[in-house]
Amino acid sequence: MNEKEKQAPDSGEAGTASFGFRKVGAEAKQGLVNEVFASVAARYDQMNDLMSVGLHRLWKDDLVAMLHPPRGAQAFSVLDVAGGTGDIAQRIIRAAGSGTHVTVADISAEMIAEGRRRAGEERLASRIEFTVANAEALPFPDSTFDAYTIAFGVRNVTHIDAALGEAFRVLKPGGRFLCLEFSQVDVPGLKALYDLYSFTAIPAVGKVVTGDGAAYRYLVESIRTFPDAAHFAAMIEAAGFSRVSHRALTGNVVAIHSGWRV
Ligand SMILES: C[S@@+](CC[C@H](N)C(=O)[O-])C[C@H]1O[C@@H](n2cnc3c(N)ncnc32)[C@H](O)[C@@H]1O
Repeated sequence: MNEKEKQAPDSGEAGTASFGFRKVGAEAKQGLVNEVFASVAARYDQMNDLMSVGLHRLWKDDLVAMLHPPRGAQAFSVLDVAGGTGDIAQRIIRAAGSGTHVTVADISAEMIAEGRRRAGEERLASRIEFTVANAEALPFPDSTFDAYTIAFGVRNVTHIDAALGEAFRVLKPGGRFLCLEFSQVDVPGLKALYDLYSFTAIPAVGKVVTGDGAAYRYLVESIRTFPDAAHFAAMIEAAGFSRVSHRALTGNVVAIHSGWRV
């Protein structure tokens, strides 16, 4: 795969999409992604800790700190898309006051079931709602939410521009978009180490823990085919967002993107 292909976002216009390093029909990608998450749902959180050596917790806490939900009782509604097992939703609720409510939307019924179970266990079920939904066609009216978050989700979506358009539509004017996603590591020494770790250790550990090494190979490959932070920021602007910015974390391993619907 050449550099240009690696940077090409999945527009679906040419009828193809990246599924890791494979090009597949755009209509086939979502089914393949859904198989990945159905397969790993039960061990997903455990694998996140193992794969990121716990760093995903710090990155997610940074996202929640940037969201800065109100500490008081005033109403604040957050939509967490591709919210899977509800990890981001739980962190937001713990950081927020009693007026904050989170709706988790995820296309995978298996991930949503795991999220509902975990929220129940943590006694947070009354503050977090779970919905099976596609980021590209959200089942919510225009101007519904004060904030939209998406963590490690957008690179799995087939038509990213459609998902960004939906984010803009469901946000209230003045609402905030925040996206935590892997980025392209460009520090030479770190990149070599990161590649070695990603392409050897992660699928091997994934196979042992979830029984599905191929799922983790996809997850690693999908990071490399996702646009770099500058390119993704331009896509966010193209969806209509203002004051678009991004912050690199851990040597560009991940970035948090921010935009406002004004
Ligand atoms: C890597 S997980 C991230 C889960 C969670 N946000 C976290 O950070 O732990 C990616 C999630 O994206 C979901 N997903 C993939 N395609 C989606 C789509 N088109 N619409 C909504 N969710 C999608 C998957 O089902 C999966 O739960």
